[in-house]
Amino acid sequence: MMRIDPQSFETLVLQYQTRVNQTLDHWLPSELVHPIKLHKAMRYSVLAPGKRVRPILVYATASALGLELALVDGIAAALEIIHSYSLIHDDLPAMDDDDLRRGRATCHCAFDEATAILAGDALQALAFYVLSHDQSMTSDSSARLKMIEKLSLFSGSQGMAGGQAMDLAAVGRSLNIDELEVMHTHKTGALIRTCIQLTALSSSQLSSEKFEALDTYARSIGLSFQIQDDILDVVGDTQTLGKPQGSDMERDKPTFPSIIGLDASRDKALFLHHKAINALSIFDEEADILRYISAWFIERTH
Ligand code: IPE
Ligand code: IPE
Ligand code: MG
Ligand code: MG
Ligand code: MG
Repeated sequence: MMRIDPQSFETLVLQYQTRVNQTLDHWLPSELVHPIKLHKAMRYSVLAPGKRVRPILVYATASALGLELALVDGIAAALEIIHSYSLIHDDLPAMDDDDLRRGRATCHCAFDEATAILAGDALQALAFYVLSHDQSMTSDSSARLKMIEKLSLFSGSQGMAGGQAMDLAAVGRSLNIDELEVMHTHKTGALIRTCIQLTALSSSQLSSEKFEALDTYARSIGLSFQIQDDILDVVGDTQTLGKPQGSDMERDKPTFPSIIGLDASRDKALFLHHKAINALSIFDEEADILRYISAWFIERTH
């Protein structure tokens, strides 16, 4: 029962992207402020043309919950800032050693390695500054504190950074499917869950039933998103992806296609999409954008 068509989805995505780009531009220090090189690198990486998947999820969830979008601008920006920092570090020679990201030279190639490390560090700090400082967000300081707590947990060693550590420890080793799933759930799923949980915290009267439903949805699409990312490393093309196709294969990374094959990976992504849709059954058409996003995650070509 999808009541949203491709064109209205595209319009909405454009609207959300524009909205978060303006918010990011507002929070990122100007290139005229010292240290200039560091601020240039931060803006270069964050304002590059990423898909803005995490902000889109924040706005779509807010809309499903009937919240004013202005309430979640800070959340959308903080998540995109953390994500951008994770990409800068992910591309470093010590990690995936990639030279192309979002259609441009990676941060350490455009600037230098030390600047890229510092840009990541500074962006991580900036995300927490935004969450603690943004006056348009909730006026409930205990809800704000919970948001900060969740973002630190989900982006740290028991979330995204932990997943990245598992990813690096697994290079050249063969993981079983359960280990692979745990790794993906951490490195990518955790931040996707955070988008939804922080937005849910902006709503003062959300039932625990709806919260759980949204969290199940978020877990499912968090995993399907990374499975599709792995699939695109095999079947995508560098120009469309804006990052090097084949990077995982070249570095012998454990991925869904390398462990269970392309067809089984596609089946698994489709299974997770259905699981996400089922989780939303207690919502009516207000969650159609979320339903559409789940389908987009497994059909996307970049
Ligand atoms: C890439 O994320 C890294 C993963 C977690 C799979 P995205 O595919 O969201 O990258 P951008 O933000 O659009 O560049
Ligand atoms: C990166 O996973 C996940 C994070 C940055 C946390 P990948 O290494 O697969 O991401 P891409 O393919 O380089 O975007
Ligand atoms: Mg990586
Ligand atoms: Mg990578
Ligand atoms: Mg990848």
